[in-house]
Amino acid sequence: MNENMFHAPDKFRKNAWIQSMDEYKAMYKKSVEDPEGFWGEIAETFYWEKKWDKVRDFNYSMSRGPVFIEWFKNAKTNITYNCLDRHLDTRGDQAALIWEGNSPDEDMVITYRELHEKVCRFANALKESGVGKGDRVAIYLPMIPELAITMMACARIGAIHSIVFGGFSSEALANRIMDSHCKILVTSDGVMRGAKAIPLKSNADQALGMCTDLGHIVGTCFVVKRTGSDVNMVENRDVWWHEAAQAQSAECPVEWMDAEDPLFILYTSGSTGTPKGVQHNVGGYMVYTGATFKYVFDYHEGDIYWCTADIGWVTGHSYIVYGPLSQGATSIIFEGVPTYPDPGRFWATVDKWKVNQFYTAPTAIRSLMAQGEEWVAKYDLSSLRVLGSVGEPINPEAWHWYHKQVGKGQCPIVDTWWQTETGGIMISALPYAIDQKPGSATLPFFSVQPAVLSEDGKELAGACEGILAIKAPWPGQARTVYNNHDRFEMTYFQMFDGYYFAGDGCRRDEDGYIWITGRVDDVINVSGHRMSTSEVEAALGSHTDVAEAAVIGFPHDIKGQGIYAFVTLNMGVAPSDELMAALKQHVRIEIGPIATPDIINFASDLPKTRSGKIMRRILRKIATDEYDQLGDISTLSDPDVVDTLINSHKVLM
Ligand code: PRX
Repeated sequence: MNENMFHAPDKFRKNAWIQSMDEYKAMYKKSVEDPEGFWGEIAETFYWEKKWDKVRDFNYSMSRGPVFIEWFKNAKTNITYNCLDRHLDTRGDQAALIWEGNSPDEDMVITYRELHEKVCRFANALKESGVGKGDRVAIYLPMIPELAITMMACARIGAIHSIVFGGFSSEALANRIMDSHCKILVTSDGVMRGAKAIPLKSNADQALGMCTDLGHIVGTCFVVKRTGSDVNMVENRDVWWHEAAQAQSAECPVEWMDAEDPLFILYTSGSTGTPKGVQHNVGGYMVYTGATFKYVFDYHEGDIYWCTADIGWVTGHSYIVYGPLSQGATSIIFEGVPTYPDPGRFWATVDKWKVNQFYTAPTAIRSLMAQGEEWVAKYDLSSLRVLGSVGEPINPEAWHWYHKQVGKGQCPIVDTWWQTETGGIMISALPYAIDQKPGSATLPFFSVQPAVLSEDGKELAGACEGILAIKAPWPGQARTVYNNHDRFEMTYFQMFDGYYFAGDGCRRDEDGYIWITGRVDDVINVSGHRMSTSEVEAALGSHTDVAEAAVIGFPHDIKGQGIYAFVTLNMGVAPSDELMAALKQHVRIEIGPIATPDIINFASDLPKTRSGKIMRRILRKIATDEYDQLGDISTLSDPDVVDTLINSHKVLM
């Protein structure tokens, strides 16, 4: 065997769902040759009020007509029936959610029966405020059980949830509320993140103020009491979440949804324009997240599963809430941060709840790795069986640390490549069937057909490097961009006719393993958070002192990528440390703390072509100190700019 290939120890193999490469290959073959038969069988393991007429229908080619993707046509179901009601007889008293609070002495176990009751109560409260099928509900909450309860309350009555990550600013929240015309907002008084208090309600108030100014009225704002801090409750608009829920019945019949009715909208950044409201529909998403959860994490009855992501991102939607609960799993919701109260928190939590599957991001691994092994060594991690990684490529050093220090060499690592748009995991090892190579996402999940394309859209064969595209739909694929199907087609299907264009580059090796090489567009990935450079540029550009900004990602030891901004100031404005701090603050307000530039280089000018296009390639080389690889700069309108930028970069470093 290849010495860089990692093979899971045999001790858990005999119970694994898929035990060998041959089994994987046979299933994969069937899933590609007969996707309808394959997914029809898996869908049979879910509850449907009415079965489908056809498993799959689609058009991927814009030259042949409008793009559409449909799964389980004309079937009726409800995802919360599958995540809650159908488990009540068999596992009503089993923990559905375990909430581990910011402080280690706060936790809560919620059984399937209790969760069902809580979801029903809040669903009734939503109904009473006039929310019905197809209405949009914005959710701006921290990692508390009410977040999962609120999303499922929406899904139960057919309302479409749009969760906005709690780390986004009021400006970002307002834009998202308005883009999808949300009728209701659900937020909390605040949240503690580590030792820091974050005032969510005052952000929400500002956002709602901005919406009102622009003529969009949010009728009701439900407020969860989390910190007990003083908040301003606006009369006739703000309602305490717990009071509203308590006043309602604990029974709420589900709304039977068409498999292709929308389930949720989740905003994500692309290379251009404002964030897009990626829309996922009920049936295919439910089946795909459930199936990927079961196979990729090799989930078995009674396992305790923990994904450390925030529910505000797609990872949390699919692999904290819907995927695990549809399979009857126990899923941990963690409110805190990896380093509070100390850098042993993850491992203390694994030990406390005897976690079997642990799913986190490379950035978290790298930051904990930097704190030293002693934090891991203090705890008993022997319950762990599978480790997962998501959000960005995992560098081999972090992979080996995770494998050795956390998994003690006993746990396969599933490096899962996927996206907000894919709904669920696309390329990943299966723990006991696909051997791992550190840094490679390995092989495609069932029915996923990756293609490596050249820039001019030719499919490359064998070992090769190019652009990652997907040839055929899978059930979890996003169906559209909310209210903007043109944008959906333009973003994902126009580039290569007949393919879903993922926006990532990749390499395929001689074993067919896929190695993601990063984005091929202007999207950057900061601590596993996806961001568009143009959004950060627009935020900087909106400051009164800024003439122009160009933003690029640069390699960062912990975050994966950091944010480097080249900024030219208006005439007469002098660069200063105060202005630098003010610009960083400005971006925090416009987008949120996650978009704060790490480096601001005040530039007298930017390298541009004669037609005025900023040459980012040159900026990237400057940011990575590769001055000897600038390439041809003779086409610049003013080649001297480059030397000035290099000098100012050297001063900053
Ligand atoms: O560039 C890829 C990177 O994250 C992007 C998707 O970001 P987002 O929609 O926010 O979803 C993140 C969580 C699923 C991808 O286009 N990415 C995600 N997972 C991996 C990855 N890059 C390399 N390896 C991964 N495992």
